[in-house]
Amino acid sequence: MIYRPIPIDEEIKFSKKKFIISKTDLKGIITFVNKNFCDISGYSEEELIGAPHNIVRHPDMPKAIFYLIWKTLLSGRAISGVIKNLSKSGKYYWVIADLEPKFDKNGNIVSLTAFRRAAPQNVIDEIEELYEVMLNIEKKHGMKKSIDYLEGYLEERDMTYDAFILELIKPRGILATLLDAFKRLFR
Ligand SMILES: Cc1cc2nc3c(=O)[nH]c(=O)nc-3n(C[C@H](O)[C@H](O)[C@H](O)COP(=O)(O)O)c2cc1C
Repeated sequence: MIYRPIPIDEEIKFSKKKFIISKTDLKGIITFVNKNFCDISGYSEEELIGAPHNIVRHPDMPKAIFYLIWKTLLSGRAISGVIKNLSKSGKYYWVIADLEPKFDKNGNIVSLTAFRRAAPQNVIDEIEELYEVMLNIEKKHGMKKSIDYLEGYLEERDMTYDAFILELIKPRGILATLLDAFKRLFR
C-alpha cells in the first residue's frame, strides 16, 4: 500500500538551481532519484525506488497532461510539462519537467528520465488557470473533453503543445547551461 498524504494548501519553494532528477522503467516505476528529489518531496530513497511515479501526483493535475506525457514518451519523443507535485507532508511544489526516453543500441526504449526545476511564478499563474478548467471538464465530462479543450486553447494561440510549453518555460542564461550539463551527466 502506498501512503497517500492529504494535500494542504502550502507551497514548498526551492532554489531554481536545484534540479530534481528521476528515472523510471517503462511502467513508471521509479528506478533512480537524486538527493534533491528526496529533500523536496520528503520521501527517502528507499520509499521512492520501486514505487510508481504517481507517488507525487497531485489531485489538482488534469489526467490529460499525463496522458499526453506518456503517449509522447512511449512514441520515442521527449516532452516538457509544468507539473504540480504533492510532497509527503501534503504540501505542493511546482516544477518544470523535461522528460525523455532513453534507447538501447537497437533503438528500443529502455528507460524514461525526468529533469525538473522550480517553475517561476508567471509560469505557474498561466498554467494553473488552464489546469483548473481542464480538471473541471474532466470531473464533469471525462478526459477526452479536456484534451479537446487543451487543443482549442492551443489553436486559439495558433501553437502546438511543444511550441506553447517551449515559449512558456524556456530556461535562459546560466540556468540553461547548468541544466544542459546535468542532462548530459544523467543521460
Ligand atoms: C520519468 C517520469 C517522470 C514522471 N514524473 C512525474 C512527476 O514528477 N509527477 C507526477 O505527478 N507524475 C509524474 N510522472 C507521471 C506518472 O507516472 C503518472 O502517470 C502520473 O503521476 C499520473 O498518475 P496515474 O497515471 O496513476 O493517473 C512521471 C512519469 C515518468 C515516466
